[in-house]
Amino acid sequence: MGCFKPAPTVCGLRAADVRSAPRYTMRPFPKDHRGRAALEHAQGFLVEHRNTEEARSMNREQIPIEKLALPVFHTFDTRWMLLAAGDFSAHDYNCMTISWGSLGIVWGKPFALVLVRPVRYTRQYMDKSDGFTLSVFPEEHRKGLSYCGSASGRDGDKAKAAGFTAISSQKVSAPGFDEAELLIECHKMYFCDLDPRHFLDPSIDSNYPNKDYHRVYFGEVVAVSGTTAWRGAQEHR
Ligand SMILES: Cc1cc2nc3c(=O)[nH]c(=O)nc-3n(C[C@H](O)[C@H](O)[C@H](O)COP(=O)(O)O)c2cc1C
Repeated sequence: MGCFKPAPTVCGLRAADVRSAPRYTMRPFPKDHRGRAALEHAQGFLVEHRNTEEARSMNREQIPIEKLALPVFHTFDTRWMLLAAGDFSAHDYNCMTISWGSLGIVWGKPFALVLVRPVRYTRQYMDKSDGFTLSVFPEEHRKGLSYCGSASGRDGDKAKAAGFTAISSQKVSAPGFDEAELLIECHKMYFCDLDPRHFLDPSIDSNYPNKDYHRVYFGEVVAVSGTTAWRGAQEHR
């Protein structure tokens, strides 16, 4: 799974990445997230999910942002994240799996960048929310992440169906998830829509057979909590 090569997409989904995920073999990927294949996929997942152990909440503690130790390529490309936006207190939110994104510094602030296609139900929540959260889960939740990356929140509470328990965040309205080992809260700062006229590498275009160019969101990282593994032990100068 190379992070620098564009993966073949099926209806915009990175099916190759899903199929090659460690310890999990996925059934054929839905061609249309609202179609029959997607429904069968979801039903199959729910049967499997009922037979698995109860989800466990994770022992997270506050991590100072500058102490976050996150292997960015590995975490996005291989672990994946659950992106959530909306208002937890109003029970009005949605989430979806992502594997494209970044973390860094811009305008003197720590930030996370995520890319969301127009067709995603999460997109409208990204547009109306003050912020978003990124959750990283233990490997045992790979199936739940795959489910949230194929089913749509238009058809029901997929986070719950996937075994994820929404919890309130500290600084943004969007929920985090209790089963996550790392939660990153981001306050939206900026967005832009990808402009194909600016694709300098011609191979980028192959990611957009439907011309559904991503909207890119920059969020200031305002809170991080996680298990001790995500807290860097070393002092950096
Ligand atoms: C591993 C994986 C990574 C994904 N990464 C992204 C991404 O970065 N951006 C995006 O728009 N969709 C991505 N998707 C697709 C969405 O998660 C998927 O379409 C989801 O069902 C959208 O749900 P929604 O309609 O409830 O928003 C990814 C899917 C998977 C399985």
